[in-house]
Amino acid sequence: MPEDSAMCSKQKEKKGGEEREQQHVQNKSKKRKEICPYGNYKHYYGYRIGQELEEDPRLKVFKKEWFQGKDCLDIGCNSGIMTIQIAKKFCCQSILGVDIDANRIQDAYWHIRKFLKMEDARKVPGKASKLEGANGSERSIKGSLKEEMKEIPMNCCAEEKNLLDIVSFQKEDFVNTRDPPKKHYDTIICLSVTKWIHLNWGDDGLITLFTKVWRLLHPGGIFVLEPQPWKSYENNYKVSETTRTNYKNLKFHPEYFQDLLLDKIGFKTVENVTSSVSGSKTGFNRPILVFRK
Ligand SMILES: C[S@@+](CC[C@H](N)C(=O)[O-])C[C@H]1O[C@@H](n2cnc3c(N)ncnc32)[C@H](O)[C@@H]1O
Repeated sequence: MPEDSAMCSKQKEKKGGEEREQQHVQNKSKKRKEICPYGNYKHYYGYRIGQELEEDPRLKVFKKEWFQGKDCLDIGCNSGIMTIQIAKKFCCQSILGVDIDANRIQDAYWHIRKFLKMEDARKVPGKASKLEGANGSERSIKGSLKEEMKEIPMNCCAEEKNLLDIVSFQKEDFVNTRDPPKKHYDTIICLSVTKWIHLNWGDDGLITLFTKVWRLLHPGGIFVLEPQPWKSYENNYKVSETTRTNYKNLKFHPEYFQDLLLDKIGFKTVENVTSSVSGSKTGFNRPILVFRK
């Protein structure tokens, strides 16, 4: 092999190695920074509830009569912890959680299984000292699992009924599914989701959300809304090109949502239960509005 050609292949090898190294570093930093254009954070409840809080503070202001014996829908349920907590605490007839992210729906089913095994373990002490993980592997009950289960309090009023008969989850982009409604609901909740819908699909997406909710509710049905304030849009509008562009054109700021829902969408009444929410982590003190159709 001529000398310069040998040099060339050595240089190529070196360059290839450098490129691989660079790619590896890039992949690592991508892994570190989770990109969640829809607010579809994997560890949302870790940020929101934290380790020391036993119960999501929002549950303290929710009223039993909104959920007990009712068919409910949770739009943007993330990993399902709030959905499961509502089902257990308030004895829903049924509750369906929908989320745009299939991974969060998988997490939600994993949380149900975990919850059921924890209940089993409570009923038969010592039975579930080892639990099956999502991938079929056995995990010790000690450690992280126990920590995560603190998020689901054990005050179960629907004990007689299997949780899986009450709670279900489904991957769905609520704004863009066009199917005619197969089912109507007594109560629909939409907690900390409006900002993400607003940023991704603009004012039109927001109106679609509100109109669809109204159509899906039975007369007299309840819509529980926790909108993020306008100020918090600043933190997320750069998450994609679409959100950047939409952000500039948004006209219906969250402070007008109440009027929009009453005057344009057609809800009859609104109750603001915000003042009684206490114990929220910083950044999560958001209004909670309850509309009746
Ligand atoms: C910030 S989390 C709120 C989780 C939960 N509702 C709560 O407050 O405890 C927002 C969730 O809305 C979901 N989401 C955003 N856009 C959606 C859409 N168009 N359809 C269904 N889910 C959506 C995201 O995937 C994410 O899990």
